[in-house]
Amino acid sequence: MSLAEKFLTMEYGPAPEDPKDALLWLDSHQRRLGHFIGGEWREPVEGAFFDTTDPATEEKIAAVAQGSAGDVDAAVNAARQALPTWQALSPHTRARYLYAMARAVQKHSRRLAVLETIDNGKPIRESRDIDIPLVARHFYHHAGWARLLESEFPGYTACGVVGQIIPWNFPLLMLAWKIAPALATGNTVVLKPAEFTPLTALAFADVCQAIGLPPGVVNIVTGDGSTGEALVKHAGVDKIAFTGSTEVGRAIRSATAQSHKKLSLELGGKSPFIIFEDADLDSAVEGLVDGIWFNQGQVCCAGSRLLMQESIAEALVEKIRDRMNTLRVGSPLDKAIDIGAIVAPVQLERIRKLVEQGIAEGATCWQPQLSMPARGLYFPPTLLSNVHPSSVVAQQEIFGPVLAAMTFRTPAEAVELANNTVYGLAACVWSESINVALQVAAQIKAGVVWVNCANLFDASCGFGGYRESGYGREGGREGLLEYLEPAWFKSAPLLRSADRNAVNSDEQQHADLAIDRTVKLYIGGKQARPDSGYSIEVRGTQGELLGEAPLGNRKDIRNAVEAARKAAGWGKATAHTRAQVLYYMAENLSLRREEIASRLAEVLGAAQATSEVAIGIERIFFCAAWADKFDGAVHNPPFRTIAIAMKEPVGTVGIICPNEAPLLGLLSLVLPVLAMGNTAIVVPSETYPLIIGDLYQVFDTSDLPGGAVNLVTGYSKQLLKTLAEHDDVDGIWCFADETSAAAAKAFSVGNLKQVFTNEGRAIDWFDAQQGEGRWFLEHATQVKNIWVPYGE
Ligand code: NAI
Repeated sequence: MSLAEKFLTMEYGPAPEDPKDALLWLDSHQRRLGHFIGGEWREPVEGAFFDTTDPATEEKIAAVAQGSAGDVDAAVNAARQALPTWQALSPHTRARYLYAMARAVQKHSRRLAVLETIDNGKPIRESRDIDIPLVARHFYHHAGWARLLESEFPGYTACGVVGQIIPWNFPLLMLAWKIAPALATGNTVVLKPAEFTPLTALAFADVCQAIGLPPGVVNIVTGDGSTGEALVKHAGVDKIAFTGSTEVGRAIRSATAQSHKKLSLELGGKSPFIIFEDADLDSAVEGLVDGIWFNQGQVCCAGSRLLMQESIAEALVEKIRDRMNTLRVGSPLDKAIDIGAIVAPVQLERIRKLVEQGIAEGATCWQPQLSMPARGLYFPPTLLSNVHPSSVVAQQEIFGPVLAAMTFRTPAEAVELANNTVYGLAACVWSESINVALQVAAQIKAGVVWVNCANLFDASCGFGGYRESGYGREGGREGLLEYLEPAWFKSAPLLRSADRNAVNSDEQQHADLAIDRTVKLYIGGKQARPDSGYSIEVRGTQGELLGEAPLGNRKDIRNAVEAARKAAGWGKATAHTRAQVLYYMAENLSLRREEIASRLAEVLGAAQATSEVAIGIERIFFCAAWADKFDGAVHNPPFRTIAIAMKEPVGTVGIICPNEAPLLGLLSLVLPVLAMGNTAIVVPSETYPLIIGDLYQVFDTSDLPGGAVNLVTGYSKQLLKTLAEHDDVDGIWCFADETSAAAAKAFSVGNLKQVFTNEGRAIDWFDAQQGEGRWFLEHATQVKNIWVPYGE
C-alpha cells in the first residue's frame, strides 16, 4: 500500500510494546512466585501453586502460590511483629519510605505496566498512562500524609494489622489505594491480590525489598477466595479493607460481625451516565468511551447506564454508533488499541449471559462490525437500547463493555432513574448548564459525580460508595480515617453486662401498683400508642415503680422509619436553620432542667441526673455549633478540574441508645445525627425509657419538623433487629453491649447500611473527648466528590 493510500484509509499498523523487561523479571523468579512474608519470599506451607494466564493468549505466564490458612497466619504474625517498630518510626521516616515507593514505581513504570497488561488484558495505553502514574501519585500524596499525620489527626491512632483484599480490574492501583493510606497512618499490612492478577502485587513486593522497607510492614499472600476468607477470619487482624463484588462484601460483613474488626467496603456499581439535550454531545460521546469502554468496562464506577434526554436520543445514538465503529479491539500490548481482553473465561461467560438475558427481556443489541482477534478472551463493545429500567441489564453490574441505554424527559425524571438502583458509586452528568448539572449532581445518591467529564481519579479526592456500593472512602482525608481510630476508643474497656435493667427482672413485675407517669411513642411529630397495646414497667433505684413506657414493636419501628423518610426535608434545610433549631432545643431543655433532673434522679441518683442534664445542654450547643461548620473541601487535583467534596447526611439513621446514661447518651448520639441533616429513629435506653416524655416536649417546642426524630421505646435488642434489617434505614448506630454491636453488624448486611458501634466498649459520656467531637460527626456524614472541569 502506498503512503498516499495509507493516508486515505488511516489504518493503524501494529505497534506492539516490548515485554522483554517484564518477562526477564518473571524469569528472575523462575516464573514461580511464593508469598512475600516478613520481608522475604516464602514457599506456601501446603506447597500448592496455581497458574496465572494472559487473557489475550490464554497462555500461562507464571505459577503463583495458593495461600492457605497457615500462610495467612504467618503473614499476620509478621505484620504484628513489625507493628511496634513501624509505629516507633518518626512521621518523617515513614514518609520517606512511602516516597521511596513512589520513586521506585516510577523507575520501573514500564515493567509494571507491561506486567499489568499481560496479567489482566487491559490495553498497555491504559496501564502505562493511567494506572501506573496514578499508583505513583498515590504514594507521593500519602508520603505527605505520613508526615502530617500527628498534626492533622491529633488523638487518632492506627488500627494495627490490616488485611486488604483487592480485585483484578486495577490490580496495582487498588494495591496503592490500600497500602499507601494504611502505611501512612502507621498500620502494617497483609494484602491478598485477586487470583486472576497477582503479578504486579508480587513485583511491588520486590519494590518493598529494594527500598529496604522493614520486614513485615507489607506482606503479600496470593490465592483465591479461600485465602481471602482466611484473612478476613484471622483473629490477629484489626481491620479489613475490601474492594470487589457486593456479594463478597456482604459475606465479609457477616464474617466480621462477631469481631471488633473495622471494615471498609468498596463494592459494585451501576453508574448512570446522564446526557442532557444542551450537552456538548461530541465531548459527551468521548466521555462515554471512557465511561464504559475503559478497561473493557470492567470498572466498578463504569458509566454503564446511559440516560439520554429524549429530544436528543436518536441523534446521540447515531453518534455513539459512529464512534463505536472506530474503536479498535485487539492485543492489549498493542499501543494503538482501545479495547483489550476480558480478564478470564468466567467473566467473559458472565458478560455473554447477561447480554443474552437483556435481549430476552426486550433490549435491542447493537455491536459494530470490528475485526476481532482470532484467539484470546474478547467481547465487542456493545450497545443495548430500549432497555427497561427494571431489566437485568439496567440493574445488575455486567462488568464488561456493555452499555444499557434509556431515555428521560425532565431533570427530575433523570434523577429518579439515576437513583433507581441499589448501588451508589458514581455518576456522570453532561449539560452545558452548570446550574442544571450541579442541581442534578446534588440529588444523585453516589460517592462521586463527574460533571462534563468521566472517570477522573486522584489521591487527594475520596472515592467510595453510597448504599450497596459499600462504605468508607479511599483517597483524601476521609480515606485516612478508615485506617485510624480515636486512641481512647481503642483502649476503652468493654462494658460490664448491664448492671441495671429496669424492665426484665421477675420479682419486680408485680411489686407496685401506683403508676406515676405514662408516656407514648413519638412518631412523625406526634405521640402514638404502641401497636402491641402493651407497656413495660420502669423502676427506680429501690425497685419502686416509676411509670410505664410503651412496648414498641416491629410495626412501630416501620411507622417510625416511614415518618423519618418523609422528613428528609430536614437534610435539605440550610445548616443555619438546623443550628437554630438545635440551639432552641438546648434552650427548652434548659427551661425544664430541674424537673427533668429530679425525675432522672429517681433512677440514677441526684448527682448523675444533674450532670446528665447540664452536660446534655452543653452537648446540644456543641452540635448546634458544628451544624453550620462541618464543611467539605475543594480539592485541586492535577487536572484542569476542581473536585468539590460535599459532606452529605447518611440519610435515615437508627439509633440504639446506651443504658448507662439515658439522657446524655441519647443526646450525644441523636444530636450529631440531626446536626448533619439526618433523620433518626431512636430507641431510648431500657434503664429509663420514660425520658422520651420530656424529650418530645422539648422537640415539640423547638421547631423540629415532625419525623426528624422518632422515639420508640421497648426491648432494644428486638427493635435493633427490625431497624438493622429495614431497607429504608441507611445507617445504624448501636451503643450498647457487645452482643448488640455484633447483631447490628450482622443484621445490616441486607442493604449494607453503615454501622457505627461502641463495639460494646464503655464510653464516658460525661467526658468531652469521648462523648462529643468529629468522630461522631464523621459517622453522621458521607463525602460526595463532584468533579467540575474548568477552562476551554
Ligand atoms: P470477587 O468479589 O469474588 O473478588 C474480589 C476479591 O475478593 C478477590 O481477591 C477474591 O479472591 C476475594 N474473595 C472472593 N471471595 C472471598 C471471600 N469469601 N472472602 C474474602 N475474599 C474473597 O469478584 P470476582 O468473582 O472476581 O468478580 C465477580 C463480579 O464482581 C464481577 O463480575 C463484577 O461484577 C464484580 N466485581 C466488582 C469489582 C469492583 O471493583 N467493584 C471488582 C471485581 C469484581
